[in-house]
Amino acid sequence: MDTVVEAPRKSQTPNERGREQSAGNSNQRPDVLMVRPYAQWAIDMLAATYQIHRLWEAADPAAFVAERASRIRAIATDAVIGFKADLIDALPNLEVICSNGAGTDSLDLEAAKRRGIPVTNTPGVLAGDVADLAVALAISVIRRMRAADAYIRSGEWARRGTMEFVPRFFGRRVGIAGLGHIGRAVAKRLSGFDAEIGYFDIAPRPDVPYTFFDDLVALATWCNLLIVTLAGGPSTHKIVTAPVFEALGPDGYFVNVSRGFIVDEPPLLDALENHRIAGAGLDVFWNEPNIDARFLALDNVVLYPHHGSGTAEARKAMLELVRDNLAAHFSGRPLLTPVV
Ligand code: 8YV
Repeated sequence: MDTVVEAPRKSQTPNERGREQSAGNSNQRPDVLMVRPYAQWAIDMLAATYQIHRLWEAADPAAFVAERASRIRAIATDAVIGFKADLIDALPNLEVICSNGAGTDSLDLEAAKRRGIPVTNTPGVLAGDVADLAVALAISVIRRMRAADAYIRSGEWARRGTMEFVPRFFGRRVGIAGLGHIGRAVAKRLSGFDAEIGYFDIAPRPDVPYTFFDDLVALATWCNLLIVTLAGGPSTHKIVTAPVFEALGPDGYFVNVSRGFIVDEPPLLDALENHRIAGAGLDVFWNEPNIDARFLALDNVVLYPHHGSGTAEARKAMLELVRDNLAAHFSGRPLLTPVV
């Protein structure tokens, strides 16, 4: 039978409401609206503790939400689909939103703030894997891994002998745009490659020995490999524009493991097609997964299908962090990784 949960009193925080309601309904599993399917093991794990409502299976999502609106106390979503204001406005007893992913660009944080609903994400646990991919993309494009692999498969190695020389990877001047968890993990890895590191961010980070640049064009002028690890949001939308590629120059390489919309994509394509930059390693694009076909014709790019955090270990840790944030909320403990 449906249980109508009382509307929250204004003076209570969502955590206080959660604690009180959990205590009052100790034999009842809290209702969680899951927006997109998590891995089956994670759905099963959460279903042991929560009543999971599978929005992605609904033929009529609005009717599905309306039918159970008063019962839903948490939303479980991810960084790809996020949530919009109309969803949380339809849920009068919503207490917490947990997103699987580090990115917050798809989360309507303003709408959540207006309702006083805390939002969690999963930063940190995926940083090492995304950083590994950034370095792998850089090495792949610079050492021409795609061409080298094709050189063997096509029989050219046997026919023509040694492949042409390629640029060196180690000892580069690397510009990192965004020194958050992922940027720092990239810098740590690159220290093993004798890199000189400069970075761009909203302010200098006093705890790092790297050179700070308050301007992306200046960073691109200084470095010969630019790696973007900035958080996506209104302030970083199309922050990497044509002058950045001009500054990077024909010997410079570009790597993006952040969000496609951080880059003004047509100028990037122009720069790659006209060899005004040497090459790019890209995990993210404007129109995923239907990326601009111009990328497919380029031989100076290495493409990856937005899968930086796509290791079994990272995805497990991310979903466990969603679980732990939900558990913290419903037992009245502080959230582990709150965004707002
Ligand atoms: C995933 C991501 O695409 O964490 C992010 O922000 O972009 C990626 O890790 C996604 O979040 C998986 O749900």
